[in-house]
Amino acid sequence: MAGRALRFRRAISRSRLAPFAAFPYRMIKVARYDLRVFRSSVRWLVTSREHHNYTYDLTALNREHLAWFVSDVCNVPVGHVREWMAELEADDQLRKHIENTTAASARRGLADRRVRYARRAGWYAMVRALKPAHVVETGTDKGLGTCVIAAALLRNTAEGHPGRVTSLDINPEAGYLTKAEPWASVIELLIGDSVTALAALPEPVDIFLHDSDHSSGHERREFAAVEPRLAKDAIVLTDNVTKTDVLLRHAEATGRRFLAFKEQPARHWYPGDGIGAAWR
Ligand SMILES: C[S@@+](CC[C@H](N)C(=O)[O-])C[C@H]1O[C@@H](n2cnc3c(N)ncnc32)[C@H](O)[C@@H]1O
Repeated sequence: MAGRALRFRRAISRSRLAPFAAFPYRMIKVARYDLRVFRSSVRWLVTSREHHNYTYDLTALNREHLAWFVSDVCNVPVGHVREWMAELEADDQLRKHIENTTAASARRGLADRRVRYARRAGWYAMVRALKPAHVVETGTDKGLGTCVIAAALLRNTAEGHPGRVTSLDINPEAGYLTKAEPWASVIELLIGDSVTALAALPEPVDIFLHDSDHSSGHERREFAAVEPRLAKDAIVLTDNVTKTDVLLRHAEATGRRFLAFKEQPARHWYPGDGIGAAWR
């Protein structure tokens, strides 16, 4: 019986009817996928308040991909990267600060209370691995990434490797999470256009992160503006790697290597962002 069904399927697959015969099967496949996205979209519409710069957890497998990505880019054992990522998750002081400040902020109606770092755990681990003296982030928004970077810098400082982060945003209301100690002690928040501010930065930059205006033109102008300010072994990161080829082209033009990590959010409709890295 089974053999007859198999022969029938083989005959159909070779006939001109194959596309029609396969149609219901293909439709079920795509409908199952779309239903999963639809369910997580409805859940998100009801449970989240965010309207941009979404936060979410990564799948367990994706966190492993992130750990291996950081390990490759920073040339450190993956076990250390896992420990640093766990260190961030276990930082209750930072988590409580973000929860409480968000709940008290004027923008609380448009922010979720639960703290979810996603790719920012990769930024944290990179700062722990490379012990930079100066990190520059363009695009502060609430200051979630800035605080994550500051927390890594504070741990480095306690281990004898001091560093600070300059965060740039065009919005005068940006950065409400960055004002509290101990994180504020290593954060400098500059308000203004990032390209103009980058051209005026006084000291060398060890890690540069683009996360501001995500148009290709602006991203390109930021890399051009920061290039003369970069330390010899500086690493250049972008939050825009799933949308543009600007960093990979910049890497090639400046003799750097390039690698991209793509997020896989857990239980969220958003397809995720990523981290692009260019380094020598
Ligand atoms: C995606 S958010 C930054 C997210 C943040 N890095 C984080 O970790 O959550 C983008 C930010 O870039 C800022 N921005 C847009 N255009 C800018 C510009 N020309 N110069 C500086 N900041 C800009 C916006 O005001 C916004 O706060």
